[in-house]
Amino acid sequence: MKFTFYGHACFLLDTGKEKLLFDPFLSGNHLAAIKAEQVECDYILLSHAHADHFGDAPSIAERTGAKVIAIPEIIGQFPETVTNFQPMNLGGNYKAPFGSLKMVTAMHSSGVPGGIAAGFIIKFNEGITVYYSGDTALFGDMKLFGELFDIDYAVLPIGDNYTMGPEDALIATRLLKAKTMIPLHYNTWPVIAQNPQDLKERAAKENVSIKIINPGESIEL
Ligand code: NI
Ligand code: MN
Repeated sequence: MKFTFYGHACFLLDTGKEKLLFDPFLSGNHLAAIKAEQVECDYILLSHAHADHFGDAPSIAERTGAKVIAIPEIIGQFPETVTNFQPMNLGGNYKAPFGSLKMVTAMHSSGVPGGIAAGFIIKFNEGITVYYSGDTALFGDMKLFGELFDIDYAVLPIGDNYTMGPEDALIATRLLKAKTMIPLHYNTWPVIAQNPQDLKERAAKENVSIKIINPGESIEL
């Protein structure tokens, strides 16, 4: 399975059969590694409706016909021309063709009235479990996620100001008992400037593994 980082909080998970695109903010993102018109995907997963996550979702959904997985209030933001949806809500599980997907709590505002921010825990058919928290604060139920799931990769924001900063993301990784943490949501703007290398070195002293991926780079999970 391939993980490709497109910048900010946008990434693609390619199982070889299906392509899952997360939080496609590409237009207007000076660090974006791909143009919205070039993205190919079968699913679009949205953590919440802030512009730096919802971004290009309507145009990509319309062009590709990808199934949009999100909270109903966020689905309500799409134009009528987009019709392929999997509405979910917190605590719900969706038995998807690529595996088992659970929508979980995030501690963040949603960007749309009545909505709520969410994260995703996906147990892929390939046997890999990935947790994407979306924008969030550190919260205690991450410990529960770590007990209920065998998380291989935790994809977490480290930018601070709008979300967890590096210190809290490190605590989160420990609570989640994640084998590897992939940081995102930093350096897009000065207010979320971070040095992930510092974090990686600090984490290594605590035997926490951090994988830094630059926009445009891919790794095999
Ligand atoms: Ni946000
Ligand atoms: Mn954000």
